[in-house]
Amino acid sequence: MDEIIVQAKGITKYFPGVLANNHIDFELKKGEIHTLLGENGAGKSTLMNILDGIYHPDEGEIYIKGKKVHIQNPFDAMANSIGMIHQHFMLVDTLTVLENVALGLKSQGLYIDKKEISKQIETISKKYHFNINPYSKIWQLSVGEQQRVEIIKTLFRKAEILILDEPTAVLTPQESEDLFKILNQLLKEGKSIIFISHKLDEVMEISDRITVLRKGKVVGTVHKKDVTKGYLAKMMVGREVLFSLERKPLKRRGEVLKVKELEAYNDKGFKALKKISFSVFGGEIFGIAGISGNGQKILAQTITGLRRATRGKTILNDADITNASPKVIANKGVNYIPPDRLKVGLIPNLDTTENAILRSYDREPITKRNFIDHQKAAEYAKSLIRKFNIMVPRIDAPVKLLSGGNMQKLLLAREIAERPKLLIAVHPTRGLDVGATEFIRKQLLKERDNGLAVLLISEDLDEILMVSDRIGVIYEGQIMKVINIEDAERNKIGLLMAGVNSPKN
Ligand SMILES: Nc1ncnc2c1ncn2[C@@H]1O[C@H](COP(=O)(O)OP(=O)(O)O)[C@@H](O)[C@H]1O
Ligand SMILES: [Mg+2]
Repeated sequence: MDEIIVQAKGITKYFPGVLANNHIDFELKKGEIHTLLGENGAGKSTLMNILDGIYHPDEGEIYIKGKKVHIQNPFDAMANSIGMIHQHFMLVDTLTVLENVALGLKSQGLYIDKKEISKQIETISKKYHFNINPYSKIWQLSVGEQQRVEIIKTLFRKAEILILDEPTAVLTPQESEDLFKILNQLLKEGKSIIFISHKLDEVMEISDRITVLRKGKVVGTVHKKDVTKGYLAKMMVGREVLFSLERKPLKRRGEVLKVKELEAYNDKGFKALKKISFSVFGGEIFGIAGISGNGQKILAQTITGLRRATRGKTILNDADITNASPKVIANKGVNYIPPDRLKVGLIPNLDTTENAILRSYDREPITKRNFIDHQKAAEYAKSLIRKFNIMVPRIDAPVKLLSGGNMQKLLLAREIAERPKLLIAVHPTRGLDVGATEFIRKQLLKERDNGLAVLLISEDLDEILMVSDRIGVIYEGQIMKVINIEDAERNKIGLLMAGVNSPKN
C-alpha cells in the first residue's frame, strides 16, 4: 500500500497573468484515494491536466512508479496507465458509446474489432453495474451515464491511475453515492484514484489522504482520519468558516409573484418549462433546487421577459406581466442577478461608475434635463462601493478587472439599490470565494428580513438549504414538490432532483 505510483515534484505552470501552479509537490500511493481540495481557481485542474498531458509544466518533474516521464499528450498519459475523467466530458454526442470508446485507437495503430470492443464494454459495464448499452448514442444518455462511459473509456484502456475532476458537480447526492461505490470497488482491485472536489462532506467521506491547494500552492497534505471538516475548510480558505448563517424567524408578507402554469421553450426548440406553478411572498426566500439544465435558467429568463412564455402567466402584485418587455418588468420592481455576470449583468469594458448607474442613469438625480451629472453618478457609485465594501482598483477602471466576488457585490448592490419588490438571483455565489459567498448570502437574508421577495435559483443544495424558507425542486421543467425548510431533508430533495417522487416522499 505504500508504493508511490505518481510523484509530481515542483510543478509550476504559468498562464498569461496567472501562476496557476506554484512549485507543487504531490504524490499518489498505490491503492489510495487521494483528494485534491481547493476553491475555484486554486489550480486543481491545471495540475491534473499536466498529469494527463494536456498542459506541459514550465518547471518540475513527474515520476510514475519511480521512473521519470515526459507526458506530451493524453496518449502518453494512457501509456503510463493514467486515465482522466474531465470536468467537461470529452465525448462525441452523435456517436455511440462503442464509437467513443474506439475513438483514437486507430491513430495509435491499434486494430479495431467492433465486436470485441463491444464485448469488453459489456463486460466492464456488468462488472461495475453500469448498465450501459454499447450501441446507445451519447446524447441519449443522462449525465450520470455519460460519466460512466468516460470511466469505461479509461478502464478499457487499462488505466491503473484514475483522475476524476469534480465528478460530483453534475450528479445528484444519490448518483454521487453510486459513484463512490464504484470508486471503492476500483480501489479494491488495486487501482489508485485522484479525486477532485471542493465539497467538504464528500471529501470527508471518500478520501484516504487530502492535499489542499490554495492560489496555486500546496497548503498541506493530511490523512482524513486526522482532520475535521472545519479544519479542512480553514486550510482551503485560510480562515475560519461558518457552516451556517444566523437566520431571523420568517415574517411572511403578501404574495408578490405568482407563476401559473408557465411554459416556455429552450433555444433548441424543446419545451423547457412544463406548467410551472408557484408563488413567492414578501419577506421570504423561495429557493429552486435542481441539477443544472432542468429549466432553471429558462424560468428566470421567462419571468424577467427575456424569453417568451408560450402558455401560463406571471403575476406581480396582481398585475399581469407575462411577456412584457424586460424593461417594463424591471420598472415594475423585478430585479435580476443573472447567472453569467459578465455577459448579462455587467458591461466588462465600462468602469465601476458606469456599471453602477446602468439602472438609474436616465432619471434624477443622475440625469437632469437630459444631461448625465457625472459627479452625481460617481457619488452614487461610491455609495454602493462603501455600502457593499467593494474592492475596486480605481473607480474608472473597467469592471472586468474586478475579482469575481467584487463584480457580484457590485451587481447585487446595484439591483438592491433599486428597492425591488422581487429579486431573482441565479447562482449568485457560483465561483466566488468563501468570504464573498458569505457576504452575498447574508445580504439576501437581510433583504428578506426587510420584506423583499427573493427567488433564489441555485445548483448548490447547501446554499438552498442554508438560506431558503421554502424550496421548490425542479426536474425536467417541472416543479416536483414545494417543501418548507422545516420539513426539508437532504436525501429526499436529492431524490426529487433526480425525478423520483415516491409516495413516502
Ligand atoms: N487555459 C488557461 N488559460 C489561462 N488561464 C487559465 C487556464 N486554465 C486555468 N487558468 C487559470 O489558472 C488558475 C487555476 O485554474 P484551475 O486549475 O482551473 O483551477 P481549479 O481547477 O482549482 O478551479 C485560474 O486562475 C484560472 O483562471
Ligand atoms: Mg477545475
